[in-house]
Amino acid sequence: MKIIAANQNAIEQAATILKEGGLIGMPTETVYGLAANALDGKAVARIFEAKGRPSFNPLITHFGRARDIEPYAEMDERAKALAQKFWPGPLTMILKRKTNCPISDLVTAGLPTLAVRVPDHKAAQDLIRAAGVPLAAPSANPSGTLSPTSAAHVARTLGDKVDLVLAAGSSRIGLESTVIDLSTEQSIILRPGGITPEELEETLGHKLHIAEQSDDIKSPGQLLKHYAPKTPLRLNAVDLNPDEALLAFGSTKFMGIKGGGAATNLPEDMIRNLSETGDLHEAASNLFTMLHDMDAHNHRAIAVMSIPDIGVGIAINDRLKRAAN
Ligand code: TXA
Ligand code: MG
Repeated sequence: MKIIAANQNAIEQAATILKEGGLIGMPTETVYGLAANALDGKAVARIFEAKGRPSFNPLITHFGRARDIEPYAEMDERAKALAQKFWPGPLTMILKRKTNCPISDLVTAGLPTLAVRVPDHKAAQDLIRAAGVPLAAPSANPSGTLSPTSAAHVARTLGDKVDLVLAAGSSRIGLESTVIDLSTEQSIILRPGGITPEELEETLGHKLHIAEQSDDIKSPGQLLKHYAPKTPLRLNAVDLNPDEALLAFGSTKFMGIKGGGAATNLPEDMIRNLSETGDLHEAASNLFTMLHDMDAHNHRAIAVMSIPDIGVGIAINDRLKRAAN
């Protein structure tokens, strides 16, 4: 497996690999994806094999522009309004699949719906255009583990299962896209992300239903334990056990260590701060990167300070809960 900077020459190499049925580590603004030609069932099967992903869990298909989706899925008025407002960007829509849609049934796990997204990242856009086909791409990590926010994460966790990784720095948003199901009359948020329910409601002009664990069956991926580091996480920590590392949010001035001591005196490798100023967007972009980093140190446990459950904080808490259970 090779990692190369996502310049024009690298994009052309990657496009050739995709046309031949290979897998590419693709940078996007959310997390790195593991991309294959969505029309090539054999290539898509390799994605499931590389990730150890159950075949009932469908994949997102990535397009260059909203109008490129036309042959594949039904864009109703809601979808058009959201596309206009949020694409390219971190929003995935579940739409009705068109009859004769040539996308592999493996991508959709046999469902009558298709998940679509137009990523806001130059390398992803260049790759889609050069390949000339829609790209199926889940996050580029083994199933159930932390999503990758750098090319190095992809290389470390998937190794030779990827043919080539395009490197383009850290993912700007750092959390997977918001997933909204528009395949039925009721619009439902299946996965919280950087685009909040309030923003979506404002564009749609109506209230959204937010899927609970119990109706998660609508988004098969949400059923699974997810985003988990190897090190156990303890959430909403207000103080520290003596051998715990700290993933902080905001000021650590008042964090004490049981039995004596203050968090501010922890050795450098035992503390990371998602955002010292309490900025939720900054925290989202640091979450997976810091968890990857802390997970490499073999701490006994990681205590995580509480994150306000508002705006993108809802998506951060969703990922943390899945990582902790
Ligand atoms: O930001 C992202 O969305 C990244 C980048 C690479 O685009 N991709 C990503 O893919 O997070 P993945 O496979 O890790 O998550 C896709 C989620 C899963 O929970 C899956 O179950 C759900 O979308 N999904 C895909 N197709 C679906 C469908 N037809 N109906 C319901 N849920 C679907
Ligand atoms: Mg994933």
